[in-house]
Amino acid sequence: MNEVVYLNGSLIAKNEAFISPEDRGFNFADGIYEVIKYYGGKPFRYSDHMERLKRSLHEIRIDFQDFDPLEAVFQALLDQNELTDRDAGIYLQITRGSNTRIHQFPGNIKPTVYATAFPFASKTDQLQNGVKVITTEDIRWLRCDIKSVSLLPNVLAAQKASEQDAAEAIFIRNGMVTEGSHSSFMAVKNSVVYTHPDSNLILPGITRKVVFEICQTHHIRVIEEGIPASELAHLDEMMIVGTGSEVTPVVKIDEFTIGDGTPGPITRFIRDKFFEQIQMLRKEK
Ligand code: PDD
Repeated sequence: MNEVVYLNGSLIAKNEAFISPEDRGFNFADGIYEVIKYYGGKPFRYSDHMERLKRSLHEIRIDFQDFDPLEAVFQALLDQNELTDRDAGIYLQITRGSNTRIHQFPGNIKPTVYATAFPFASKTDQLQNGVKVITTEDIRWLRCDIKSVSLLPNVLAAQKASEQDAAEAIFIRNGMVTEGSHSSFMAVKNSVVYTHPDSNLILPGITRKVVFEICQTHHIRVIEEGIPASELAHLDEMMIVGTGSEVTPVVKIDEFTIGDGTPGPITRFIRDKFFEQIQMLRKEK
């Protein structure tokens, strides 16, 4: 089956989708993206993703307003790629568009809008048993709150992790943990959850927000405070959370085993509550 994608207003076969070599996404990484997970054909936290998309566009001054038709486009992508009955992801990328290569915004330019649907199953073994992660220096720019396609430091960090058989690389900036290369990072010490505060140094993760809500409902204290890298070996529990990672326990960081090397009780509780929400979503009409 030929994959169907969305490009600038049309649903077309992927092998017929072409983007100009002058696209500013290609030349300057001048664009933003979102990844939305669909469980059994139903989007998880759709409006949160749309709000973040609008914010990213606003922050980099791309003038795109056509948000309402997107939901139907995503649904059509899932339908036409036979992904409605399974877990899938939608990838949406919007760049400033294509024109002659000049650094400043060219006049008279239309955003390039591209979306794909792909199978996106949960990693059951990792969710159950936890993963190993590594730490690496956070060499990203100072606007990590924008979901920019400029991801080279994230790519290099993820590759480094993969070469060390680790599931994720956790960034350290000025001695403090920020987040993962493609996930948010949270840790537990004495039954309190710690995570980097919302700022220009991290992406405002939607899964992170869901975890905050779970903690609030169940009276688990959350402190939004940077975690010193020097403390990592002494934490009770850790997790990486995100659209792809969901709520994945971390059992090893660099050479340090966390707790007894199995997922801790608070992480397991949060993970299970997270999947209860997913189960409810699946049952919705
Ligand atoms: N990554 N931090 C970074 C740097 C991320 O790239 C992501 C998500 C997150 C978690 O955000 P959310 O819970 O909203 O997915 C945090 C996506 C999935 C990706 O790049 O594929």
